[in-house]
Amino acid sequence: MIKIAVLVSGGGTNLQALIDAQKAGAFPNGKIVLVMASNPKAYALERAKNAGIESVVVSRKSFDDPADYDRAVVETLQSRGIDLVVLAGFLSILGKPVIDAYPERILNIHPSLIPSFCGAGFYGLRVHQAALDYGVKITGATVHLVNEIPDGGRILLQKAVEVLPGDTPELLQKRVMEQAEWKLLPQAVAMLCEQLEQEKGN
Ligand code: GRF
Repeated sequence: MIKIAVLVSGGGTNLQALIDAQKAGAFPNGKIVLVMASNPKAYALERAKNAGIESVVVSRKSFDDPADYDRAVVETLQSRGIDLVVLAGFLSILGKPVIDAYPERILNIHPSLIPSFCGAGFYGLRVHQAALDYGVKITGATVHLVNEIPDGGRILLQKAVEVLPGDTPELLQKRVMEQAEWKLLPQAVAMLCEQLEQEKGN
């Protein structure tokens, strides 16, 4: 069984999509066993509790030295035997020690078609504001592997979403979540669980 940790910072709608997909049998050889939040106020923690999933808060602000934060994250994940890490609306930067501990095993969902509107400073509504400011007619979401470059890892899945006249960042975010993020992330988790299960079998 592939043990999955989902890292969150906010409302947790992508976490909820994963919980619902797991219940629907979308990734039978994977199990979400931990939700790790970057702050204690994340509503995603409520979602984890309702789903009976262990949760823990590891806040970047509690550590003066980034190396201590990275060590705490790795220990939190390795103590639960985590195989696959999913960043779902996670806003803290993971340092090299975390990336090295989980090579090609950390997924992130970004609310644009990378390489557009991504990288440092592009998160949440800012991404959709930038898309509207530029006047693109098509945007979407991307699931990619995580490396040390923000939003820089290998792209796994993308899905396009139409920008409509009169869109606000909030309206566009909702459409991108509903039509792209909440579909792509479970799909990508299923792909990686399949791949990791096969690797374990070899
Ligand atoms: C959303 O903007 C999503 O696109 C991005 O993080 C934000 C919050 O997502 N990945 P969630 O509702 O906490 O999953």
